[in-house]
Amino acid sequence: MTSIALFNTKGGVGRTTLLYHLAWMYAELGVRVVAVDLDPQSNLTSSFLSEERLDELWMGPARGQTIVDAVSPLLEEGIGDVREPHLETVSRNLALVPGDLALARVEDELSAQWSSCLSGTPKAFRITTALHRVVQLAAARFRADLVLLDVGPNPGALNRCALIAANQVVVPLVPDLYSLQGLRNLGPTLQKWRNGWTERIEKAPASLTGLPSGTMAPAGYVVLPHALRPSRPVTAYLRWAERIPAEYRLAMKLDPSPEVISLANDLHCLAQLTHYRSLVPLAMEAGKPIFHLRPADGAIGAHVAAVSECAADFRTLARRLADRVGIDVPPPPPRLTVFG
Ligand SMILES: Nc1ncnc2c1ncn2[C@@H]1O[C@H](COP(=O)(O)OP(=O)(O)O)[C@@H](O)[C@H]1O
Ligand SMILES: [Mg+2]
Repeated sequence: MTSIALFNTKGGVGRTTLLYHLAWMYAELGVRVVAVDLDPQSNLTSSFLSEERLDELWMGPARGQTIVDAVSPLLEEGIGDVREPHLETVSRNLALVPGDLALARVEDELSAQWSSCLSGTPKAFRITTALHRVVQLAAARFRADLVLLDVGPNPGALNRCALIAANQVVVPLVPDLYSLQGLRNLGPTLQKWRNGWTERIEKAPASLTGLPSGTMAPAGYVVLPHALRPSRPVTAYLRWAERIPAEYRLAMKLDPSPEVISLANDLHCLAQLTHYRSLVPLAMEAGKPIFHLRPADGAIGAHVAAVSECAADFRTLARRLADRVGIDVPPPPPRLTVFG
């Protein structure tokens, strides 16, 4: 099982939308996926579930079934361990661990226990790795090949613990100043977290087994459409796009390329996605990914080709990422040919 976090310290760039579509695409390709919503804003959960179901989960009879309920015995009451998380089944190959605004409450405790790990306190390690264990439990229960983690954009204690649960990190980027500035900040943040965790593991009592290695390996970046920020001049984005390959290598401490590389031939560039425009509200209304939209959902005329292109883009992205992180994607079923 591989766990991948989509992370950048700059928000509002389309990370959650990317994760939602990637999760659906992997499920369609036959990869079993658990999506875990670790952003207290819970936008991923809102994308997957109807408002009625959200009402039940957050306010009503189904309370007790979010990520917070899985970690609260340990993080809020300070006893025992995490609980097995509730899994919301989305499709045959796809399940969700629902997010919760209340997850923001555990930030202070995670921050305090990060420091206490240096004294080798077992409880501090149990708390710091709580999200890791929730991820492992969810993956084992669903027999998942892949766990996708959606996290908020800030470099705080909650995200540090989320990233410790991730073997791999994919960086969503927009070709603009703000996203590249976020990238410059992201590289040192990940390095500090990896080093900090390595230093702490050395202090862990021998009785604690199954601690995550906290590799947070850079699996590549996805370029999201610049037009998501309509206030920026359109011509400027090409200039920023050209800088991404070098900036990514610099941030992730990868060997600089000996030649000038463009996005199109950079091996770290997993995809360049386009702006899906009016397909986005259609998909939200239908409660499905863009590439599942049908004429009955309003995807007619020019939309039909755009839906197919979106499917092709995500299929390519999913396979490229799978190759990079070592996930087996079942081959497509043979096409039936009817003769005569
Ligand atoms: N490729 C895209 N094309 C059009 N709109 C998009 C695309 N990706 C995201 N959006 C829209 O941009 C907004 C922010 O996206 P979101 O995925 O929530 O970003 P983040 O998780 O980085 O904060 C949302 O309204 C979403 O519908
Ligand atoms: Mg988001």
